[in-house]
Amino acid sequence: MKPNQQLETSKKTQVQSMFNAISIEYDYINKLITFGNDIKWRKKVCEIAKENGPQSILDIATGTGDIALELANIEGAKIIGLDISEKMLDIGRKKIANQNLSDKIDLVLGDAENLNYSNSSFDTITIGFGVRNFQNLTKGLKESKRVLKENGKLIILESSVPKNSIIKFFYFVISRIYIPFLGLVFSKDKSAYNYLQKSAEKFPSGDQFIEILKDCGFKNITTKRQMLGATSIYVAQK
Ligand SMILES: C[S@@+](CC[C@H](N)C(=O)[O-])C[C@H]1O[C@@H](n2cnc3c(N)ncnc32)[C@H](O)[C@@H]1O
Repeated sequence: MKPNQQLETSKKTQVQSMFNAISIEYDYINKLITFGNDIKWRKKVCEIAKENGPQSILDIATGTGDIALELANIEGAKIIGLDISEKMLDIGRKKIANQNLSDKIDLVLGDAENLNYSNSSFDTITIGFGVRNFQNLTKGLKESKRVLKENGKLIILESSVPKNSIIKFFYFVISRIYIPFLGLVFSKDKSAYNYLQKSAEKFPSGDQFIEILKDCGFKNITTKRQMLGATSIYVAQK
């Protein structure tokens, strides 16, 4: 789905301007939406990435760079964070400079669906809360597979809908009331948080997403559900 269904412009253009518009408030509101759990989830992504001792990592949809910053703890790893929103990247670049990590992390403007890297360039790819914003999901996933080395790992952190009906009820209360409320009170772009909430509910999660990964050619796919299934970490291999 697009942030604004009424507009003719492409999903990519809309997503790019939406994240440019909310870049300044993004980190703060993200903490409120996830009740601060985002820090823990990014650490988990990093722990999974660390298992194979990767030297080259691409963090797609890096936004303000928090996953890239976490990945910088991996000994010897060089990280590229890529995003279509220049303003999200600007904030990330400031954080990287403040932590003196410019020699380990490079943030670049780029599109997940048309990566400017040759085949088999990276040991590991991470994507945090990015895939549901892709215009063409399978194109983006296939591009990730193309630039991964053989047996390389793709780690995706994404919102999912809990299976248990009682938990699902609380999930919908948070998602349909709390998140739009945060957008209304704190955001410059009120509609952005309606889109973020609706796209999270509509996005294929669990077994459905695993099937999509399989169709894109990934193998050995596992899922680790977080926060009672409201978020999932998918790990897949090329
Ligand atoms: C919800 S933010 C996630 C940022 C960060 N990964 C995190 O964990 O907080 C989603 C990001 O995906 C980026 N994005 C969406 N579509 C993209 C694409 N096709 N290529 C690269 N980045 C994209 C957006 O610009 C935005 O910064």
